[in-house]
Amino acid sequence: MKTTPKRYLVTSALPYANGPVHIGHLAGVYIPADIYSRYLRLRGRDVVFVGGSDEHGVPITIKARQQGCTPQQVVDKYHEMIKKSFEDFGISFDVYSRTSSEIHHKTASDFFKKLYDEGKLVEKTSEQYYDEEAGQFLADRYIVGVCPKCGNEKAYGDQCERCGSTLSPTELINPRSNISGSKLELRETSHWYLPLDKYEPWLKQWILEEHKEWKPNVYGQCKSWLDGGLQPRAVSRDLDWGVQIPVEGAQGKVLYVWFDAPIGYISNTIERLPDSWEKYWKSEDTTMVHFIGKDNIVFHCIVFPCMLKAHGGFVLPDNVPANEFLNLENDKISTSAGWAVWLHEYLEEFPGKQDVLRYVLCANAPETKDNNFTWRDFQDRNNSELVAILGNFVNRAMVLTQKYFAGTVPQPGALADIDRETLAEMKAVRPKVEECLENFRFREALREAMGLARTGNKYLAETEPWKTIKTDEERTKTILNVALQISASLAIVMEPFIPFTSEKLRKILNADSATLTWEALGGEAVLPVGHQLGEPVLLFDKVEDDAINSQLKKLEEAKKRRDAQSYRAKPQKERCSMEDFQKMDIRIVKILEAEKVPKSKNLIKMLVDTGFDRRTVVSGVAEHFDPQTLTGRQATMLVNLAPRTIMGVESQGMILYAEGCDGKLHLVQPSGDGEVKSGSPLS
Ligand code: 2FM
Ligand code: ZN
Repeated sequence: MKTTPKRYLVTSALPYANGPVHIGHLAGVYIPADIYSRYLRLRGRDVVFVGGSDEHGVPITIKARQQGCTPQQVVDKYHEMIKKSFEDFGISFDVYSRTSSEIHHKTASDFFKKLYDEGKLVEKTSEQYYDEEAGQFLADRYIVGVCPKCGNEKAYGDQCERCGSTLSPTELINPRSNISGSKLELRETSHWYLPLDKYEPWLKQWILEEHKEWKPNVYGQCKSWLDGGLQPRAVSRDLDWGVQIPVEGAQGKVLYVWFDAPIGYISNTIERLPDSWEKYWKSEDTTMVHFIGKDNIVFHCIVFPCMLKAHGGFVLPDNVPANEFLNLENDKISTSAGWAVWLHEYLEEFPGKQDVLRYVLCANAPETKDNNFTWRDFQDRNNSELVAILGNFVNRAMVLTQKYFAGTVPQPGALADIDRETLAEMKAVRPKVEECLENFRFREALREAMGLARTGNKYLAETEPWKTIKTDEERTKTILNVALQISASLAIVMEPFIPFTSEKLRKILNADSATLTWEALGGEAVLPVGHQLGEPVLLFDKVEDDAINSQLKKLEEAKKRRDAQSYRAKPQKERCSMEDFQKMDIRIVKILEAEKVPKSKNLIKMLVDTGFDRRTVVSGVAEHFDPQTLTGRQATMLVNLAPRTIMGVESQGMILYAEGCDGKLHLVQPSGDGEVKSGSPLS
């Protein structure tokens, strides 16, 4: 363990530039990385916070094909969009660059070349599918065929999206090219492999013995990879988008995206600090921390360290505090299904409320297990924590000081017990927050910081300066001095978490960051007596129900679209004969009355006009229909079904329903020109 790190290299996963970023990205990676970097800077540590867009890989080429443009155009568009979202949310990168940059191509290419020249890579030939019409080998995603597990006709070469099985292209039945639609042939191609197996003993020692302090989810995943035994991994691909392999005869081959992307951390540092980057990447005094989501653990804890080790000369990560996933309203976030809250859309709908989202996502961060974002929780945390606790406390301290002491910090007198206890609580915040942040427990750190606002609120409620002012001005001065010192500490401690609010609070207090330093946190006289405060403005405002309802409605619509897209008709039932069919008498009927069957959970009793009689039918559809909405509507009914008695009611027939994409039932009604009367038969 290093005891006195001289500098920090903080990296955050490079997002693929093939779509905008959403709350899952923010909660899992960028907010913790930003909190950590801001905290380190506040502590005066030397830190480079590296970000950038991951612009290679097959999904980007697929997107380009779908949109009829080039991969470069795709990444240009999304790189700018992602970069802007991060800026808007105050993610304080020291550099945010991209892997399509020249410097990155050079760095990644040189990295590969060194491994190649030193014989650290193994070349192997294998058979892969080739599309003769398109004149290229196909990446797994470009190959479609029948899933051997579930029969889905559009399974991909790497995965079947219907049954979720992981596949390899050769397992597909009838594989075809998704580019040209033509049949494929297996051809020999050669690739370079990083022999991870050779590094296994070293990895076991380095991770399992020397990094027992890593988060259990990270350590556990590494252990299971290592226990399972590592295999050599191909680091090249037959593709025309990516970093060219710098070896003769390797035309048409590029570096595998997962080989070049983490090198992006190095290239982006070089881009930002062309003269001093080595100080960060090549000195043992550096502490390197990778912030990532759990799907990236193997690449950052196993593959990239092996690459660095094979190359030599570079530092290895000290920690990889990977987060689990954030769900949205109890469902997995899915960009293709539109089940996400996109950052750019959030800002259009909640302008100026970056910190509310930062706060909620940190308070709810999926640090140890998958977690859930709900709009109701967002509203509650805003209204009952940010507004009612933090905002309310600061506002009361400010407004009362304005009112009684013309907005200047009053001179405190002798301290009462409650003052001393409160000041002691304020002092205790700093070591607690530091301990949490140093150990990547961001939720707890935020809870501790917020605890100071709770302390402040409680203090004002108990000391009641609005009452003491009537009888004891000196006492009131002491109380408000303490409340203002707490406000100053809040401005400091909140900076890593909600920096926009911190800035606002500094303005309100009329104090800059040279005064509100981390060392000052918890101090009893950070704001000197006589200091003139700024104007009291509200730090937060309420989020109303309407705003939340409209977000929920938006998600509801996304769900409908998703269900419609993913709806798959059930397989046909066993054949029946014409005779069988003709036995069934199916008619259009009209529902005259409908009511719930008392004491039943799901039954509705209906009186229907069949055109030739009136009769009672019972359907188990109460979870799909409000009985009132059925009255007066036409429906389709099997009228000659033998009667059955259900919960004491005889049902004389069966109303037919169609199942919607979302599983909801619908009445089947005639449509088209002309009237269809009750009793009209289906033929
Ligand atoms: O999972 C992803 O979104 C990858 N683009 C992360 C890459 S991280 C690093 F290696 F660059
Ligand atoms: Zn399948």
